[in-house]
Amino acid sequence: MRAFLVILALTTCSFLRAETGYDAWLRYPPLDSATMPSYSRLPAVVFAPGKSTVIDSAKQELVRGVRRLLGRTLREESGLPEEDAIVLITYDALPGVAVGIEIPSQQVEGSYFLKALTRRGHRLLIVAGADERGVLYGTFALLRRIALHGEIENLDEKDAPYAPVRWTNEWENLDGSIERGYAGRSIFFDNGHVVGDLTRARDYARLLASVGINGCTVSNVNANPHMLTSEFIPELARLAGAFRPWGVRMAISIDFGSPKEIGGLDTFDPLDPRVIAWWKQKVDEVYAAIPDLGGFVLKADSEGRAGPSTYGRTHADAANVIGRALKPHGGLLFYRGFVYNHHMDWRNLKNDRASAAWDNFHDLDGKFDDNVIVQIKYGPIDFQVREPVSPLFGALHATNVAIELQVTQEYTGQQRHLCYLAPMWKEVLDFDLHADDGPTPVKALVSGRVFYHPTGGFVAVSNVGLDANWLGNDLAMANLYSFGRLAWNPDLSARDAVQEWTRLTFGDDVRVVDAIVGMQLESWPAYEDYTGFLGVGGLTDILGVHYGPGIESSERNGWGQWHRADEHGIGMDRTVATGTGFVAQYSPPLAHEYESLAECPDNLLLFMHHVPYTYQLHSGKTVIQHIYDSHYDGAARAQTFPERWRQLRGRIDEQRYQAVLARLEYQAGHAMVWRDAICDWFAKTSGIPDARERVGNHPDRIEGESMTLDGYTVEPITPWETASGGKAIGCPQPSCSVSFQWKGKPGWYRIAVQYFDERDGVSSYRLSAAGQLIDEWLANNDLPSDKPNGHTSTRRTITGVALRPGDGIRIDATPDAKDRADIDYVDIVPNLQQGETAILRR
Ligand code: GCU
Repeated sequence: MRAFLVILALTTCSFLRAETGYDAWLRYPPLDSATMPSYSRLPAVVFAPGKSTVIDSAKQELVRGVRRLLGRTLREESGLPEEDAIVLITYDALPGVAVGIEIPSQQVEGSYFLKALTRRGHRLLIVAGADERGVLYGTFALLRRIALHGEIENLDEKDAPYAPVRWTNEWENLDGSIERGYAGRSIFFDNGHVVGDLTRARDYARLLASVGINGCTVSNVNANPHMLTSEFIPELARLAGAFRPWGVRMAISIDFGSPKEIGGLDTFDPLDPRVIAWWKQKVDEVYAAIPDLGGFVLKADSEGRAGPSTYGRTHADAANVIGRALKPHGGLLFYRGFVYNHHMDWRNLKNDRASAAWDNFHDLDGKFDDNVIVQIKYGPIDFQVREPVSPLFGALHATNVAIELQVTQEYTGQQRHLCYLAPMWKEVLDFDLHADDGPTPVKALVSGRVFYHPTGGFVAVSNVGLDANWLGNDLAMANLYSFGRLAWNPDLSARDAVQEWTRLTFGDDVRVVDAIVGMQLESWPAYEDYTGFLGVGGLTDILGVHYGPGIESSERNGWGQWHRADEHGIGMDRTVATGTGFVAQYSPPLAHEYESLAECPDNLLLFMHHVPYTYQLHSGKTVIQHIYDSHYDGAARAQTFPERWRQLRGRIDEQRYQAVLARLEYQAGHAMVWRDAICDWFAKTSGIPDARERVGNHPDRIEGESMTLDGYTVEPITPWETASGGKAIGCPQPSCSVSFQWKGKPGWYRIAVQYFDERDGVSSYRLSAAGQLIDEWLANNDLPSDKPNGHTSTRRTITGVALRPGDGIRIDATPDAKDRADIDYVDIVPNLQQGETAILRR
């Protein structure tokens, strides 16, 4: 029976073609035989009048999609045939084909309708767009509908994007690295040049277009002035060619010091006539090579970048000089609102980085030209797991704005952790800033609907890389997909977006869909629980890689991501009465709510107030007990992810199944690193124990320092909270071992080895019990540090080990290069869980 089940499992797996994730949500898998007949009347012919590369792409996509989904190859016709046909067409060409059809009066850029009708006895399936992009988006919508088994017989659907700006930003550098990218090197640049093979760039543009994204800035906001040199412009023109067929306008980030850096001037003062002339001439030169360039993104006066403050000029002066040069070409200038002083005196309790964006920009409202967009991060700090909405969105009534979100998970687990961000984005987009009479949700403010701006919308920093699956984790692609879908329609729910994505990415098996949707929707709250809490902001290594825990790194420096936790209490007092006064940047109803300790929502409490650890939340818990409980709850939820994923074995192709499983297992372990680091630090700092006695109390844990060491030496870990007991053991010689005796009851156990997997070497470990080799592994994960710390602390779990009292447990380790095969502790807990396999002892 058992052998039969194994064979069955293997057979099931083999039906599922291995997938790399490269196709993302555009896989178009063949429909099953029960669904296929619903499309039997799909016309066999496609007709797309007129000449347009974008409509050509739509036509090719339709042919490709229908071939894969339905196993039929559409015939392309150059005239309307006397038979049933799918017609891809712009509104203005429509009267010549389908006389009498009603054309929508609202012709927003990119809008489309899909309609099934009969003309002269033939069925026509019309995909009509207000422009060529509309035709493309309509075609993707039709394919999506078929892939999701939607009805097309009586098709009658129209749709229009909510806002004109739906862009991604890619922080790619000319040397091929990506700032805050977690999926390999750049798909656009290498070694100072645009890459020779632009297949990835083209395929990325297709992915973007499929969810309605119409612009992509290809280079890092910390811009390299070389991008604008005359030698480089032809390379950029070649890259723009990869985006053009998909209706995605390419843009680049620029350096404000360029007139001086590469222009031969001795100034970059935006009001100097020579500088004005330089920008005009440079922009004309770029547009001569790339007539459809989307424009520029500019980070100025921020984190050391050149800006107008050098000459006492305003951000509007800076933006407009470039905006005016772009204007005749239809280009946009995105001026980033992320401006703050990173050398602030931390001792001054009135200083506040959160106030900076509003302080810098609100007085300039109305002073920016109409092709300038102020691009504002969703919160006043920097992509934290929880922030209040930036008050600047409510302050700019006469200025175009765009919201900046992050698909790349800089502060939210860097794609090694599952963290589906659409629920957070939805909270932000739906949040009413009370900026005017009547409702003023952020989505309406940024799209220009409240104060009637000509443009504005949604931007996400995406940072895809050369990893086959684009973001390094197949599940993280839900963020890119949902960003596009929400930028198109922010009224879509996060659940609907991820459900749609899951079905397109992993198929229609109800168990697969339910499990993945469930995990995705739980992942952001879980991440928030085991990392930040109560709006405290980043407790990560603020000065470095923004990944593992590093609680004190935000304090006593000028970067301003302070949480001000000490032995008495925690939180930034941002009230008007006693704090920095930031709260006053909100409209009166919100300012009142945030100012009042009694009314401030729990999840933003520590963003707005400094309170003692014993302060009681609305939930009834004290702050300190909330810290402990939320970390245990969040980590426990992350523990369930691998198990839930394992239930899907055989229902997902083995390649993606294994790749995701490895990430979820890693996350489950790292969530515990976070939990323990935060709980230990706050227990020690506050002096208040966990009422449920979990913190600092690990009866199943055997510390490395307390084992019998052969070659290993004890070493302190920095920061101390990232290792159990603040210490670990490292091997300073070619090989070492540690051992201890098992003193518990006989039974089945799960052994977890907590070790440090540094980037600077690949150490190897061999674990044995009672002289029998149980497991061996390499510390070869790609983690962002070459030290033993909270970024590298990793858990290896071996399930189903039979132990008897007196058994010796031993780890033999071989360090490599600078990685000293550090070990923190071993954890042994009973139980064999469902789906886990036993390792039988001889
Ligand atoms: C964050 C990020 C930087 C980035 C900056 C920005 O601070 O860590 O790498 O340059 O944001 O958005 O400009």
